[in-house]
Amino acid sequence: MPIEWLEEGRQLHLYNDAMSYVMRVLASGRLVHLHFGTRLSTGTDYSHLTRRAFTALYNQVLDPEMLELPTAGSGDARVAALTVEHADGSGVVDLVYRGHRLLPGKPDLPGLPSTYVEDADEAESVEITLVDGHSGLEVALLTSVYREHPAITRSVRITNGGIEPLALTTVMSIALDLPDDDWSLISLTGAWGRENHITDAPLIRGRRSLASTQGSSGHRQNPFILLHRPGTTEAGGEAIGASLVYSGNFLAQAEVDPAGLTRIRLGIEPETFRWQLEPGASFQSPEAVLAWSDAGRGGVSDTYHRLYRERLVRGSWRDRARPVVLNSWEGAYFDFDEDRVAEMASGAADLGAETFVLDDGWFGARDDDASSLGDWTVDTRKLPSGLPALVERVRSNGIDFGIWIEPEMVSPRSRLFEEHPEWAVGAPGRPRSELRNQYVLDMSNPAVVDHLERVIGAVLGSADISYVKWDMNRVITEPYGTTLPAHRQGEFFHRYILGVYELYRRLTAAFPGILFESCAGGGGRFDPGMLAFAPQAWTSDDTDAMDRLRIQTGTSLVYPLSSMVAHVSAAPNHQVGRVTPIDTRAAVAFFGSFGYELDPAALDADERTRVREQIEWYVARRETLQRGRFLRLVSPFDGDGNETAWMCIAADGSEAIVGWYRVLSRPLPGPSLFRLRGLEPGARYAVSVWPEADDALVRANSLERGGDDLMAVGLFIDDHAWESQARGDFQARIFEITKVAHAG
Ligand code: GLA
Repeated sequence: MPIEWLEEGRQLHLYNDAMSYVMRVLASGRLVHLHFGTRLSTGTDYSHLTRRAFTALYNQVLDPEMLELPTAGSGDARVAALTVEHADGSGVVDLVYRGHRLLPGKPDLPGLPSTYVEDADEAESVEITLVDGHSGLEVALLTSVYREHPAITRSVRITNGGIEPLALTTVMSIALDLPDDDWSLISLTGAWGRENHITDAPLIRGRRSLASTQGSSGHRQNPFILLHRPGTTEAGGEAIGASLVYSGNFLAQAEVDPAGLTRIRLGIEPETFRWQLEPGASFQSPEAVLAWSDAGRGGVSDTYHRLYRERLVRGSWRDRARPVVLNSWEGAYFDFDEDRVAEMASGAADLGAETFVLDDGWFGARDDDASSLGDWTVDTRKLPSGLPALVERVRSNGIDFGIWIEPEMVSPRSRLFEEHPEWAVGAPGRPRSELRNQYVLDMSNPAVVDHLERVIGAVLGSADISYVKWDMNRVITEPYGTTLPAHRQGEFFHRYILGVYELYRRLTAAFPGILFESCAGGGGRFDPGMLAFAPQAWTSDDTDAMDRLRIQTGTSLVYPLSSMVAHVSAAPNHQVGRVTPIDTRAAVAFFGSFGYELDPAALDADERTRVREQIEWYVARRETLQRGRFLRLVSPFDGDGNETAWMCIAADGSEAIVGWYRVLSRPLPGPSLFRLRGLEPGARYAVSVWPEADDALVRANSLERGGDDLMAVGLFIDDHAWESQARGDFQARIFEITKVAHAG
């Protein structure tokens, strides 16, 4: 079994082939962390790894070593993972071990998304009970280890076992103590239109925090950090990922203390959180997922990609090829009627798209973004035959139909707001801020969730709908739970997201055949919590291919390509005005859940031919692109960012697809060489280039080459061999690497 308990040393060792996580109960009863990383041998006592924290030097009484769940007020001067306010106003918590039990598999977390097992044999879990004797506070630390994934999952459940109420003021899902600070920290930060840009900086003494306080995980930061040793590359060196399965306010933080110990904290953001816990009541934290690799940053990404694709995403679409979508938004915005929708859909079908998605503007009386959110009935001025008839008309072209919704919102100009102004989030006596002319519905109110289940369920049940894009287009201001008493207002944000999860749970259960795409003004809520319900997410509202190189590279640190919706849009690009070749746009979007965001009628004959060919090309290779192993070969965050290269390898190793991208053309650049990874060194591969018209490049690379040669020397972009059509800015080439002979 992958969890070993050594009675004598009171040591728990969680392990699989790739890594180990070791904890120990001290004589004092405190539970300390000994090791996370390299696989250590079993049957060995690791008590010599016990570390004393800096504070222990002047604290003779307590043992504030690398605690598994550090608390405040009992000797550990570093930042705590659990803080409370007891009924008497004190905040001291001193946790000691009471017992543990091993559980086969991995239990679900009530009300919260989490990774899972299909077979109890896939993982083993340990629930460790810690108690604060004075108050009766009880903590259940749930830690699971997968056999096949180098990942540890952790969540905590706090129970008030005392006789007085108390308030939880900090509940981290995990605090991970590392015995040194020789790490660099990567974070994913951004804004609308430039999500998940990579920042990498060495840790220094003090705290470095990524946090969201606006109700969703947000554009500004992703609930993820990656630590890597100096000199670590994509393919080599030690790296640790910490990812939170949560879509609300979060904190991800590294603290280095004066002695050079590092503490990672990951959990619900504490400043916007306070949870009242009555005697006997429990609080469940979200799940944190730690990944460890000695195969570099790419090793950590490999773990998250596989684990999240196979054991976080659920439902019938988990293992199915994702359809090529044509979404109406950039092609029509709000300007459509029945005939225009039908024409777009038949144009999409004619190009080879498999699902047509009608975006915003089909409901209420919504001619722009100033009204109607909340009124989820079809706008019969635009669509007089109604949704069922429109869907049939679309489907008669042999294309599936999808629809856009934004359930969590209400427009001040809507019937719903007239009838239920009290359902909109707002603090008593204060004006509500409008953002994109809309308010947020109070998802912490169960009546709102019930209402939305009814009205959205009615829409989805009314016609043959196979795809839903679930949007969420604003941050929460004037946060206030309209049904919560004053002393529970600190629960609002978490209860909001629990309400969102509950609505998702009900709708995905009622419509198991629908493929859900999550969205929040692009990638404003692209997180593991959402992926547990919606297998894919709109990566960014910026569809410009050059900007997408950075956005998709950053997003790929954690999230699998199958989850990243990537569409080809019109030129000039609507967000930045850039004109890029249509094959470059496709070559970038191929590395994702591919589709289009344009009006087919606006394409000229050449473009139509290109689009048909692109779709055909993608469909034939999507198994590799959606479910293969993804590798970053050249990062747009390195050097001057002018070049990017990505690679996907089929699960059976029979083919690989490599994308190469160059932003600006420069005189006499010298040849670009970039090395492939993940091939069999002794196998032979045929190399071909897409698009095929690029003869000189094809000639230079269309060789049969060995895996060793492709990985040691690499692919070759020689501008002198390029001929004129390959020059210019915004170039992309796809190389297809097909195994023709096995090793040996
Ligand atoms: C958000 C989404 C877009 C589109 C619009 C519709 O901005 O990110 O893709 O759906 O809303 O209003």
